[in-house]
Amino acid sequence: NLHVDLKDSGIKIQPTMYGVFFEDINFAADGGLYAEMIKNRSFEFTNPLMGWSQPNSNKHSFNNESGIASAVKYAGNPSNKNYIRVKINDDKGYVLINEGFRGMGIHKDASYNFYLSASKKSGNVKKINIQFIDKEGTVLGETNIVPTSTDWENYTAQLTALKTEAKAQIKITFEGTGEIDLDMISLFPVDTWKGRKNGLRKDIVQLLDDMDPGFLRFPGGCIVEGRTLARRYQWKKTVGPIEDREILVNRWNTEFKHKLTPDYFQSFGLGFFEYFQLSEDLGAEPLPILSCGIACQFNTGELVPMEELDPYVQDALDLIEFANGSINTPWGKVRSEMGHPEKFNLKYIGVGNEQWGPAYIERYKVFEKAIKAKYPEIIIVSGSGPFPDGDYFEYGMEELKKLNAEIIDEHYYRSPEWFRENAARYDSYDRNGPKIFAGEYAAHPKEIEDGPKENNWEAALSEAAFMTGLERNAEVVHLTSYAPLMAHIDAFQWAPDMIWFNNLESYGTANYQVQKMYATNKGTDLLSITKEGKPLTGQGDLYATAAKDLEKEEVIIKLVNTSSNSQNVTVNISGKKVKSKGIITILTSDNLVDGNSFESPNKISPNESDFILEGEKTVVSLKPNSFTILKFKI
Ligand code: AHR
Repeated sequence: NLHVDLKDSGIKIQPTMYGVFFEDINFAADGGLYAEMIKNRSFEFTNPLMGWSQPNSNKHSFNNESGIASAVKYAGNPSNKNYIRVKINDDKGYVLINEGFRGMGIHKDASYNFYLSASKKSGNVKKINIQFIDKEGTVLGETNIVPTSTDWENYTAQLTALKTEAKAQIKITFEGTGEIDLDMISLFPVDTWKGRKNGLRKDIVQLLDDMDPGFLRFPGGCIVEGRTLARRYQWKKTVGPIEDREILVNRWNTEFKHKLTPDYFQSFGLGFFEYFQLSEDLGAEPLPILSCGIACQFNTGELVPMEELDPYVQDALDLIEFANGSINTPWGKVRSEMGHPEKFNLKYIGVGNEQWGPAYIERYKVFEKAIKAKYPEIIIVSGSGPFPDGDYFEYGMEELKKLNAEIIDEHYYRSPEWFRENAARYDSYDRNGPKIFAGEYAAHPKEIEDGPKENNWEAALSEAAFMTGLERNAEVVHLTSYAPLMAHIDAFQWAPDMIWFNNLESYGTANYQVQKMYATNKGTDLLSITKEGKPLTGQGDLYATAAKDLEKEEVIIKLVNTSSNSQNVTVNISGKKVKSKGIITILTSDNLVDGNSFESPNKISPNESDFILEGEKTVVSLKPNSFTILKFKI
């Protein structure tokens, strides 16, 4: 017997309650969301020809008989440091191949825009042929460019794919003899999200859009901090013309949990302007996080001296101006010149990702003072360290409380059991203290080290159970997001992840379905739901939360049954007469080890049907291991 009280609790569920956390990990940006298909388009990787090959008929050697490409540095100190000089010998069919990000996904009949910058140096390079090929070398689409100028000139051409292929490559063959300089060789599908030129992969953005996220946190994660301070994320280097954005080795260019990805760099084609634009498209509050002058896991990393902190603080102030300043301010002008004179209406800014201890607090205070002095309306999100248990966590929480911090970002990657056992985590949090951003969390099943299989139903169901506790505590918990957001099946460093993709397709995991059910059924006001006067935090394997949506005039009850048996639950509604027909949505699977996959992307997906409310009560049979939402009009 559960009791839902329709009386106003006076507690609002924030529109930001369920959002998304984006980090360029697992090839999530370059090779993922960012639709560029050429790897190392501007020859800036540590090895300038990484991703490119110059094959011979003998595959193991360069074809320097027909020609050779070498990297050349621009004079001066530009952000785009290199280009290549291609020397073509006597019309011998010199070839350059780009392998893409673990191949290139092309769809039959779809068109792709090819771009390059070229400058003819000597002789006469007459024509550049561009072809999609598969691994046997079969041509799957082609076009060409006729270079004409001895000055740097941009050329474009379009290819249409003759066949769908997940691992295509681009083959560039040169006709003529002589030398030609090339840079910014780029390839995008015509059909990007909203048809934008420097665009995003439509299928992936669609998955995000379907979630109706309340906020978009970007750009990470650890990449905000960098392994060293020099390699921290610097947003100013990610805006303006794409060819001027300085490339950076990705902090996840490493072996972490899974595979080695030595070719992981950030082109910043997806930079801060694009993140703000995406937030706007999704109707999500933009939530940028900036470096606070502490490199990743600083006890083994780097800490900026206090007297050198100013540029970091200035970056935060300038970012607010970039987002919200008038077009007459220096950074507002940059935004406007990028095509967005309107303000982005930034409300939140994060200071530091996962930092802790006195070093963090000391630096945080400087940021807080400067931001609040200039922009008192901006809400600051502060960090609390990686896992919410150590001394530093308690210390940070206490210190931040003393400073009247507004929102604290907590991160936890724990076992499914932990999530089931901690649904009451926030019941005891001080209602007058800082608000909570559960900024990174995911249930990690033990002993599965297989990428997508870690996104199993047990993990997702345990998160659903835990999330009842987030929602029941909407008074303190204002923002939440699963992490990481996405992963390329052939190039990931971390699992589980919410969305998996390859070069052609993407799918939402069971965990995604849980997040989506919460986010699209959040309501505006919390209601009390109890059993024998107590909240349901796992007693008898049951978890519950209830809300109403004042605009839609609906009551939404979320019930999680983590028992392997079905349970009959009587839901008593008191406070107001309710109409009798409602919708019941059920997410479940027969086995806890089940999950979605490229082969069965919707194996675990919500099932909706009508249900009848018998006056003021209804009996619901909750399926074993299930997440159920009841929704009805009031
Ligand atoms: O989400 C993966 C990583 O986990 C993030 O980069 C970091 O913030 C956390 O430790």
